[in-house]
Amino acid sequence: MTRAILDPGFSVSDADELYSIRSWSNGYFGIAPAGDLTVSARGRVPIAVRDIVDRLSNEGHQLPMVLRFPDILEDRIDKVNEAFAASIAEAGYSNTYQGVYPIKVNQRRVVVETIAAYGAKWRTGLEAGSKAELALCLAHDTHDDALLCCNGFKDDDFIRLALWGRKLGRKVIITLEKAGELERVLRISKEMGVQPLLGVRFKLHARGSGQWEASGGDDAKFGLTASELIHVAERVKAEGMADSLVLLHCHVGSQLTDIRRIRAAIREAAQAYVELAEMGVGVKYLDVGGGLAVDYDGSKTTYYVSANYNLREYADTVVYTIMEACKEWEVPEPIIVTESGRALTAHHSVLVVPVVDAIGPMRRPVDLPPLTEEEHALVKEMRELEVEITVKNYREVYNEAVSNKETMHSLFDLGYLSLLERGHIEQAYNRILARVAKVVEQLDYVPEEFELLPRMLADQYVVNFSLFQSLPDHWAINALFPIVPLQRLNERPRRNATLVDISCDSDGKIDKFIDLRDVRTALPVHDLTPGEPYYLGIFLTGAYQDVLANAHNLFGRVNEAHVRLTDAGPEVELYVEGQKARRVIQNMGYLTPELHEAVAQQAAEVQESGGMTEAEVAEFLETYDRELVGYTYLEAL
Ligand SMILES: Cc1ncc(COP(=O)(O)O)c(C=O)c1O
Repeated sequence: MTRAILDPGFSVSDADELYSIRSWSNGYFGIAPAGDLTVSARGRVPIAVRDIVDRLSNEGHQLPMVLRFPDILEDRIDKVNEAFAASIAEAGYSNTYQGVYPIKVNQRRVVVETIAAYGAKWRTGLEAGSKAELALCLAHDTHDDALLCCNGFKDDDFIRLALWGRKLGRKVIITLEKAGELERVLRISKEMGVQPLLGVRFKLHARGSGQWEASGGDDAKFGLTASELIHVAERVKAEGMADSLVLLHCHVGSQLTDIRRIRAAIREAAQAYVELAEMGVGVKYLDVGGGLAVDYDGSKTTYYVSANYNLREYADTVVYTIMEACKEWEVPEPIIVTESGRALTAHHSVLVVPVVDAIGPMRRPVDLPPLTEEEHALVKEMRELEVEITVKNYREVYNEAVSNKETMHSLFDLGYLSLLERGHIEQAYNRILARVAKVVEQLDYVPEEFELLPRMLADQYVVNFSLFQSLPDHWAINALFPIVPLQRLNERPRRNATLVDISCDSDGKIDKFIDLRDVRTALPVHDLTPGEPYYLGIFLTGAYQDVLANAHNLFGRVNEAHVRLTDAGPEVELYVEGQKARRVIQNMGYLTPELHEAVAQQAAEVQESGGMTEAEVAEFLETYDRELVGYTYLEAL
């Protein structure tokens, strides 16, 4: 839909700056001159996301919906591998790079299949952290040289399955997370007559930076100490299996924000690697784990949702640091392995959510009946405060208004103020705040006490989705994701809003948004136009969000479309239906025929006593059954 540009002083480049799109999008997202947010990959013609959504909606598919772009996923695989290839070539590094995708980051079928199939050209492997993940990984046809790394704590079945993988001819590496696992692996390998490929995770002293700092350091949950490492090396040698110990692994956490910390960790890992090599075991892979960060806010800083390095700088740091240690100790350079998950998958998926309502203090106030009896002194005081708000008196007026509002609550609780008087005071308070905000906007320096003013004045946009199902990291660990309207980006957004989801949980809200310099407390948005859909895109959600989801309030998995980006337009490769109510109810242990039976019984009894007609019972049961198969989100509004 093309709208007239309402404010000639506002252009799409202003919108790009306002939402920092260029800074976080890695070139995959942009804005078309008509104001639509676009997606593109590999230099193809940008496509309006809104057009894809409209097409799917017209075909009867409902929002909220995840749009997955396999082209972006493939491009990310290329970009990571190309960065390492360039660093290796430039450094004159004598060995190669091989990525391994940790499927825990996103086990959705299309993601793993794309990475396994497309990644074959780069010998990309997979990483499993549990028996179920290993079972899934074994079924994927990867390149013959691709690794299948088994991390995580292991029982006998896990080890057996991994060894069957060896029999299948796969390069399955069992990485010891603790020293005690070695004897079990040795025993089962002998029982099965299989020569295992072993890895060992080293507990680095170095820590990462950011949210997952505790994954590294001396007190980390995983990994072997220096003495345990020596013990394992000696033990495999004593068993005549020195060649089995092929890989040294470390991982200091996800979303590592600071390149200096990465360098320190790799330096420590490389040192352990060269010493292991010197001890005469068969190490040839150095696996530096995951952690390659995604710059969610685009600020390029060490802030926890950002990173102070780019892909190439990361690859250079890994390659040069390992090379230095190997040169110094005259040890052959290993094949470098990384387990990047977030950096591969975050960009490829966009959650599209419709705004269904707006609530908030600055919405058009309802008309209140005038006060018929004599006005309460507090009402009068509030009116007087409204008279003139200037740079000179705004602080005084604001403090007075806040204090009057508190008094209002006390008086109301004691029955000295009526509901109507309270309504008048509330409205006066909102008007005062809005006028104070106008004054504050003009100031060069905003006093700290007024920093929350935009949030206090913000609308709440009600969004048809569940934070717990679709954006769990925002709720659990304060992760921030770029959020941008999909349309009207040639129009100045004149409102600020926080977002609330449709779950019945007050935590189901978003009131922190990315910003290049700080964190925003409200998102700039447009006024809602009755009858016109207003969509928001939540970006960079392809890592962890899909798979950490939970069905709080029984909101289930959302609909998904896999969209190829071609120069001729979008091609929906696959549509994956989200969960119906029936499915999430069944996950709670109910059998839906039994539920039907129970309500049918109640209806029959009511009918018998004359409370419902036969037709009403039939209509009720039809509605009930329809609800059981309905999409769990708001449908007809
Ligand atoms: C052992 C291991 N490897 C790889 C990863 C993936 O990390 P990231 O998504 O930051 O690349 C993780 C996640 O924390 C992990 O625990």
